Amino acid sequence: MTLSLAGRTLDPAPQPVPVRSGGFGGVQGLETYLRDEAVDLIVDATHPFARRISANAGAAGEAAGIPVLRLERFGWDESDGDRWTRVPSVRAAVEALGDVPRRVFLAIGRQEAKAFDAAPQHRYLVRSVDPVVPPLDAPDVDYILARGPFAVEAEVELLKRHETDVVVAKNSGGEATYGKIVAARILGLPVVLIERAAESDGNRAGTVEEALPLIDHLLASGRKRGV
Ligand SMILES: NC(=O)c1ccc[n+]([C@@H]2O[C@H](COP(=O)([O-])OP(=O)(O)OC[C@H]3O[C@@H](n4cnc5c(N)ncnc54)[C@H](OP(=O)(O)O)[C@@H]3O)[C@@H](O)[C@H]2O)c1
Repeated sequence: MTLSLAGRTLDPAPQPVPVRSGGFGGVQGLETYLRDEAVDLIVDATHPFARRISANAGAAGEAAGIPVLRLERFGWDESDGDRWTRVPSVRAAVEALGDVPRRVFLAIGRQEAKAFDAAPQHRYLVRSVDPVVPPLDAPDVDYILARGPFAVEAEVELLKRHETDVVVAKNSGGEATYGKIVAARILGLPVVLIERAAESDGNRAGTVEEALPLIDHLLASGRKRGV
């Protein structure tokens, strides 16, 4: 088994399995890798918002004749007390903030934070694992570097300390980054929540527990076909 990382995080968390890092070079590069390494199965466990690598994995798996299992955790559902505005894209999130200046907690990662330069009237607190480079051009921006999981109490403190008016987040699902959503609920703050694109067809699992028997099944089917 090999775990593949994109290589974006400067100091990735240690993993209990062999790790490779860096892009494959598109669909063709990935297909070559799959053949060279005699890979039997791809488990696409990339982030719910990492769409390109998922599309590449589907296409390369098909070209190399091996199955792909999409492991994608479920998104969060709205609970009592949540004040969510659901939007389909980062651009729509920028617009949803409106014209009136607000204090925004921007917790969508560093790659798309620059989109908020389009709304420079707001004050931003940007949190990411690695620095936002280049930084935003908007005039009033603070940055925090931090890696989850984030506890609810600490998130409440953070939102209070920065006098946050609104949280912008992706509907990533999972526990590690849910603290900010709960903190916003506790403080009665609105959340602009960026939703995922439509899911692709194929083999899917929402949890590791659900994925394991499917992995066995897909590998056994491959062996039967002599793949
Ligand atoms: N997007 C997010 O919100 C988000 C949040 C947290 C973590 N992440 C993680 O950060 C990584 C990059 O995210 P992204 O949104 O930039 O991805 P993306 O747009 O789907 O992928 C861009 C390119 O990065 C390379 N790549 C991505 N994931 C890879 C992997 N696991 N192993 C090898 N190469 C990979 C591929 O390059 P080649 O075409 O050269 O193969 C891919 O074409 C992903 O692994 C994702 O799980 C993303």
